Amino acid sequence: MDEGGARIRRRVRVRKRNRPSLGSVLAAPTAAELEPGDEEEEGEEKETVVGSRREKAVEVEPAQNNDSEEDMFGDYDSFAENSFLAQVDDLEQQYMQIPQLRKHASDLTIEDLCSGSIKHNKLSITTVGNFTELKVDEHTKNQSRHKDVFIEPEPDLLYDVPSSQVLYFENLQKSSNELGDQSTKEKDWNSSSHKTGNEELPQNSTEHHQQIDDPCSKVGTSSEENRRKSLKEHLKSAMTGNAKAQTPVFSRTKQLKETLLSEEINVAKKAIESSSDDLGPFYSLPSKVRDLYVQFKGIEKLYEWQHTCLTLNSVQERKNLIYSLPTSGGKTLVAEILMLQELLCRRRDVLMILPYVAIVQEKISGLSSFGVELGFFVEEYAGSKGKFPPIKRRGKKSLYIATIEKGNSLVNSLIETGRISSLGLVVVDELHMIGEGSRGAILEMTLAKVLYTSKTTQIIGMSATLNNVEDLQKFLQAEYYTSQFRPVELKEYLKINDAIYEVDSKAENGMTFSRLLNCQYSNTLKKMDPDHLVALATEVIPNYSCLVFCPTKKNCENVAEMICRFLSKQYLKHREKEKHEVIKNLKNISSGNLCPILNRTIPFGVAYHHSGLTSDERKLLEEAYSTGVLCLFTCTSTLAAGVNLPARRVILRAPYVAKEFLRRSQYKQMIGRAGRAGIDSIGESILILQEKDKQQVLELISRPLENCYSHLVQEFTKGIQTLFLSLIGLKIATNLDDIYHFMCGTFFGVQQKILLQEKSLWDITIESLRYLTEKGLLQKDTIDKPKEEIQYSFHITKLGRASFKGTIDLAYCDILYRDLKKGLEGLVLESLLHLIYLTTPYDMASHCDPDWMIYFRQFSQLSPAEQNVAARLGVSENFIGKKASGQPIKKVDKDIVNRLYLSFVLYTLLKETNIWSVSEKFNMPRGYIQSLLTGAASFSSCVLHFCEELEEFWVYRALLVELTKKLTYCVKAELIPLMEVTGVLEGRAKQLYNAGYKSLTHLANANPEVLIRTIDHLSRRQAKQMVSSAKMLLHEKAEALQEEVEELLRLPSDFPSIAASSEKA
Ligand SMILES: Nc1ncnc2c1ncn2[C@@H]1O[C@H](COP(=O)(O)OP(=O)(O)OP(=O)(O)O)[C@@H](O)[C@H]1O
Ligand SMILES: [Mg+2]
Repeated sequence: MDEGGARIRRRVRVRKRNRPSLGSVLAAPTAAELEPGDEEEEGEEKETVVGSRREKAVEVEPAQNNDSEEDMFGDYDSFAENSFLAQVDDLEQQYMQIPQLRKHASDLTIEDLCSGSIKHNKLSITTVGNFTELKVDEHTKNQSRHKDVFIEPEPDLLYDVPSSQVLYFENLQKSSNELGDQSTKEKDWNSSSHKTGNEELPQNSTEHHQQIDDPCSKVGTSSEENRRKSLKEHLKSAMTGNAKAQTPVFSRTKQLKETLLSEEINVAKKAIESSSDDLGPFYSLPSKVRDLYVQFKGIEKLYEWQHTCLTLNSVQERKNLIYSLPTSGGKTLVAEILMLQELLCRRRDVLMILPYVAIVQEKISGLSSFGVELGFFVEEYAGSKGKFPPIKRRGKKSLYIATIEKGNSLVNSLIETGRISSLGLVVVDELHMIGEGSRGAILEMTLAKVLYTSKTTQIIGMSATLNNVEDLQKFLQAEYYTSQFRPVELKEYLKINDAIYEVDSKAENGMTFSRLLNCQYSNTLKKMDPDHLVALATEVIPNYSCLVFCPTKKNCENVAEMICRFLSKQYLKHREKEKHEVIKNLKNISSGNLCPILNRTIPFGVAYHHSGLTSDERKLLEEAYSTGVLCLFTCTSTLAAGVNLPARRVILRAPYVAKEFLRRSQYKQMIGRAGRAGIDSIGESILILQEKDKQQVLELISRPLENCYSHLVQEFTKGIQTLFLSLIGLKIATNLDDIYHFMCGTFFGVQQKILLQEKSLWDITIESLRYLTEKGLLQKDTIDKPKEEIQYSFHITKLGRASFKGTIDLAYCDILYRDLKKGLEGLVLESLLHLIYLTTPYDMASHCDPDWMIYFRQFSQLSPAEQNVAARLGVSENFIGKKASGQPIKKVDKDIVNRLYLSFVLYTLLKETNIWSVSEKFNMPRGYIQSLLTGAASFSSCVLHFCEELEEFWVYRALLVELTKKLTYCVKAELIPLMEVTGVLEGRAKQLYNAGYKSLTHLANANPEVLIRTIDHLSRRQAKQMVSSAKMLLHEKAEALQEEVEELLRLPSDFPSIAASSEKA
């Protein structure tokens, strides 16, 4: 058993007891008196909640607190104080603080690099210069090749979309398109015409189908139906008229093409239903899908393994599947094809779960154009976006792309509304995350619930770093496919002192000598760069990209600065103008502010990348890096699992993540960024290590990947407790027997023999139920007391339901209840401070360490009303003053004091809406302030939903709706509609607004070609993705309105005359 397993065992090992009897559980004094459960009322409340949520749409949906913008380091910046790296950091810091020394160094840099000692080594500017010259052509070619990959069809081709989309196109486009695109269209027509034997539009058939399915239509009398129809027709024709008024006509060819596509989909649908061996034009999908992959992704042909995997019998039979391939192996494409089959041919919704908000947004941007072209919705469930329950679509199916937390909430709401079987497929990327902390526990419970409640939902999981697959297979009842394929060879190296070794599994100690790093460093350079980072980086930059993984955020910044100080001026010239643009844009998006470090490093093509950046900055830097304008990122390990930013060379500055030694899976993920398909021909990784770490590193490179273990029980309040509450709340399992049975089917259940030693799963189940009952979240059923204890059943109390609906971490639910109750006694509404305090996330407050001087200064500037808030919370100026002057003070509630401090930060931010000035005022990194804001917005919506379930808190509801909106966007109101579009952040929204694109409709109708000419620093790919996302959102909204119209006009099935006539019949 490896260490991980042992660690887990230790945690869950508890004093052995006799099997507790259910009587003892149920006899436990309950706090349920607080809110006695009332089943009947619950039913009604459910309806109200559903209704009100629908109305509120995007802004205030229940958001799982802490939604995936996870930073592996948290606030941890100071890497082991007495470690070697810390000493280097100190040295770097000292060095930067001595101006003379710095000047001397920069003189030296230029001298050293341009002439003198370095001329003799491989780092010399001559070498670099030659290298630059030599490679420029190749690089340009590479760039243009790269461009080819992403260049999408000519505008006319792009606009060749379903007629439903045609309304968006500008007249200007239309005329030129029709002329220019004729041949292509004809070609497509010819190539697909043989497949059309039916003139009827498939939409009609869908509508027809729906009518048949619609239970109301069966009971309606013909006169009522006609009346309803005519009203509906009238509305429809009015709406169509309006729409047509905006866009006169659309081309017949486009209509024909849409017809063809629908026909192809129909054929594919039949083929897939008949489960014949003939997979049709493209894996049971219309040929258009293949064309789109060529157009949008440059993928011409599937890799062999992809073909094999897609044609596996088990896949054809829709069995659950886990597949595992090295990083960059092309796993996503297989999942995407299966998702498209489900959406287009089987016509069921799909949920794709991804680990981080940024990746969700990247995927939304990438797949929106597929949705627009192929006629399905792509819906975002991340951050504060997503609707619960999701809107029931009439025709088109939905692809929900969600973070782990939102995926769980989505599944809960589908189960609650009895719609879980509408979910045909759940895809989980980075499946190994099931073994990682509370997020792993949430993923596990989501999948367990899907498995338990919907036998027809297929589950597919993928990962590059799985070891104990059998356990996962057992849990998911899945088939397994694996291959070692990697399209671009990855060479792994280790660097010890001056020597570079290649990782070689055949060699005795796992490595063979490769070369000596022949660089002659000046004394200063040696002191500043003992790891030869400059030498290693300049072997590839600026023509190829390089990622340098550093153990801490501070270290990233230091390394970026250090490298730039020793780069020659030649580097400044490489894509100079574009780098200048990047700086200009960074300033634009940050109201004229710019981090001084980035200001110094970007001209050299270098930047740091970690969670201290705002999301706007991150996005801009990432774009500059992926287009080659920036060539080197110093980054934390967060980037390894983040967005797709490949590099020719990946350097690991040390085998540590913060203080922890690197895990094999982390190492694999980091080095996996090197050499991405279609971009690099080779990839290489270099892990820099000190002699003292050698043994551990040799083990690291040779041992198998870590096993992953369930965290469901270990994560007590966020794991098993939350699960039980939802099982009972959703009525998935309400008696002891069923709950235990459910637990046996979880990943934890599969691993219970490994994870549990002294306690049984039965004991744990009983204890958890007792805990929830004692907390007043559950109550035993008293009616029909069964004789068998195993049949005892539970129901959720109002407090339990509120916690479950608000997705409140159960560790805090009673504190939240207490705080809100106290607030009712005297909520100060003269300022927002008191309300903000109530929605400041507890977990962030518990990790906060206030700067007492700043706290005191802020406190003394409070208005009397604001001081009143502090006084009500029991925090006095006197106390803060004493703390600031370092005096000992009597015990106070640290949680309240810290929480109030963070409330000050948020309060100032809402007033000033400028992250930079707040960051300066409170001496906190801007990225941290932004995540505090995001966390508060999420938590505010959680508190809102908590209050919605508890009548006594009705007064908070209206207040929290507004506060959530304020916290979610924290921008001027006019930018909000634009920021609803995936990927449009504040900076971009401002640019668009100033250029006249003021609403979602403006953006959805925008011509990407015009956008790139008017908006600074916007690539063609970005522009097209942005417009596609806007179109998608606009369509979603329009569809939702239409749905509402139909709902409104539909005659209720229990309408007296209908009920009577159906009875007669
Ligand atoms: N058949 C193909 N032909 C050409 N390029 C492909 C093909 N399949 C995938 N790719 C490209 O390969 C790159 C890597 O693919 P993908 O992101 O799916 O890798 P992955 O296996 O998910 O890796 P990771 O584990 O790092 O997430 C992408 O840029 C993708 O477009
Ligand atoms: Mg992947």
